[in-house]
Amino acid sequence: MSKIRRTIEAMQGYVPGRQPSGAFVKLNANENPYPPSPKALEALGAVGPDSFRLYPSSTADELRKTAAEVFGVPFGCIVAGNGSDDIFTMIIRSILDEGDTLAVVDPTYTLYETLAEIQGAKTEKHPLKGDYSLPESFFESEAKLKILPNPNAQTGTLFPKEDIARLVESAKGIVVIDEAYALFAGSNAIELLPRCPNLIVTRTMSKSHSLAGLRVGFGLASEEIISALMKVKDSYNLNGASQKAAREALLDREYTSGVIKKIVETRDDFGKGLAAIGWVVTPSSGNFLLATPPSGDACKITDYLEKNGYLVRHFDTPRLKDKIRFSIGKKEQMDDLLELLKKHTAR
Ligand SMILES: Cc1ncc(COP(=O)(O)O)c(C=O)c1O
Repeated sequence: MSKIRRTIEAMQGYVPGRQPSGAFVKLNANENPYPPSPKALEALGAVGPDSFRLYPSSTADELRKTAAEVFGVPFGCIVAGNGSDDIFTMIIRSILDEGDTLAVVDPTYTLYETLAEIQGAKTEKHPLKGDYSLPESFFESEAKLKILPNPNAQTGTLFPKEDIARLVESAKGIVVIDEAYALFAGSNAIELLPRCPNLIVTRTMSKSHSLAGLRVGFGLASEEIISALMKVKDSYNLNGASQKAAREALLDREYTSGVIKKIVETRDDFGKGLAAIGWVVTPSSGNFLLATPPSGDACKITDYLEKNGYLVRHFDTPRLKDKIRFSIGKKEQMDDLLELLKKHTAR
């Protein structure tokens, strides 16, 4: 008899974007091509031996104070995590019992389903419509927990404000709006929090703040929900150096908006370039683009790009297998990538 839990033995586990050591232009994990705020780097440089010798603040109090100011919520309404993935772990641990249901859309970020599986919960998948808008069934679902990224992962679709409000206000259970890419879109579900006690909004420093490697994310919700999340989080879930650097990065809003502006402009130019050589480009509000090559051989093009030094993401799932997701790099990188794709098309 196996010593491993049956659920864990049966599951596949989450497959993250590859992090190879070779010299690739990495456009496969929606990382930011620009460095983090110089103020964050300075704070990291100033981290002394005590930050390593001693445990960090277990509740990341200084960071949470700053984040509460920046996000405009009370201090008790925010929890910090080791990336927003850690916040999803807390949410699923504290809300779903074995056999409960999580509702998600399809396609979306697949980690939610993996975490539900670990918990022994079921995942109900609601296929997005042909234009990737929300299906009525997702609103009608009575699942105990719904998680929706806005903009959506993989597709980049920005769901309208009215849909988000309706989803939260009509839900019987808790709704999580994952705003990992919100700053690229100018979307903001945080403003719904005062009137929606069943809402959790998550944010990350990995995308717009270029701190994927430091692992910092936040959950924002009512004090009641936050105190439940605090109970299930790992004791020292966020290291001291990350807490210090993330504070500075959050405060350096001017730097962040400059980086976002460059990425959004590059994304739109790259999308136009792809469309001009016959690709079908999904409108995106994130720092990535999902596009279908005219030849439909997305998998082969992914290999061709890798051989030429570009790592992009191909998902072998029914709705995504003929597409490639390109994270947006620097302008020069995307121009060179477009030239490579033109050569491939001309072959
Ligand atoms: C929609 C979405 N949410 C969350 C994350 C993970 O963010 P973090 O680095 O904060 O764990 C990702 C990562 O790609 C994502 O696409």
